[in-house]
Amino acid sequence: MPSIRFNDQTLDYLPTETVLQCLLRHRQQIPHGCQAGACQSCRVKVNGPLAAQQMHLAQQGLRPDERADGIALSCQLQPSEGLEIRGISPKNDQHTASIVARSALNEQVWELTLGTRLRWQAGQYFSVSVNGVDYRCYSASNLADDGNLRLQLRRYEGGQVSDALCRAEVGSEVTLQGPLGDFTLRSDARTKRILLLGNGTGLAPLLALAQHALQELPATPITLIHAYRSTQQAYHCTTLEELAKQADITVASASWADSAASELDDVLDKLGALSDTACYLSGSTDFVRHYQRRLFMRGASRSHIFCESCLDFTQRA
Ligand code: FES
Repeated sequence: MPSIRFNDQTLDYLPTETVLQCLLRHRQQIPHGCQAGACQSCRVKVNGPLAAQQMHLAQQGLRPDERADGIALSCQLQPSEGLEIRGISPKNDQHTASIVARSALNEQVWELTLGTRLRWQAGQYFSVSVNGVDYRCYSASNLADDGNLRLQLRRYEGGQVSDALCRAEVGSEVTLQGPLGDFTLRSDARTKRILLLGNGTGLAPLLALAQHALQELPATPITLIHAYRSTQQAYHCTTLEELAKQADITVASASWADSAASELDDVLDKLGALSDTACYLSGSTDFVRHYQRRLFMRGASRSHIFCESCLDFTQRA
């Protein structure tokens, strides 16, 4: 049976599991979260050779200096042979931030305001932990210009991160990694309009992108649409109303459904063909997949549809 050397211990490794799953099965303490290559909390240093293709897959999204140092995401590593890895000291790339405020936006969604000097680009996200071990990804909903980072999170009752964050005292500290991701504003002369479309907490990065676009591309018309399954899932209605008072931005909320034509499709109909539009899609995986296809059918170029999916942590929140 192949084995993994982790911090000088030898652990038996099953070929059907990822390195992260192996470490967790052996009850090793390793930060982790999404298990999908997004939060980057599960990084390890790989010592010794590994097939280039394997390493390439396990290093996606990492910085060039991290890749050169042999850092890889253990949740994306599935070697066919034994491997030697080491845990990474968290001090180099982790930051602490204190909770300045938290409030419920509706029955499921909470907003958390963190005090931090970190900078980020509109549309990026952070990996957040209360205990330094379990991480979840949350997008910034504001611009990095007032010393506060605002995150919107869906609260899962009993969730190791979301519930713990909603219960944490104001003034207590959390651990952050990031900023991460490239769901950021692109300026392309071939697009003349911007469509920001999201459901659920996918609204967060779109709010930041809308503010950034108003600053950076003031002559470009923007349409921001927040979609929901039922009206109880709508939130930040006042924020959207305030945003709509600014020039060159149209804001709408609309219900959506997978199959039948929905209110959202009626709103999209009014935009006409999307061949001149940069489309930013954010939200649940099913929503993003569904509307990626629909926007393409409405004329948007594949190269001008940018997507960010929220992972579903219903099973392991
Ligand atoms: S747990 Fe590996 S990237 Fe999130």
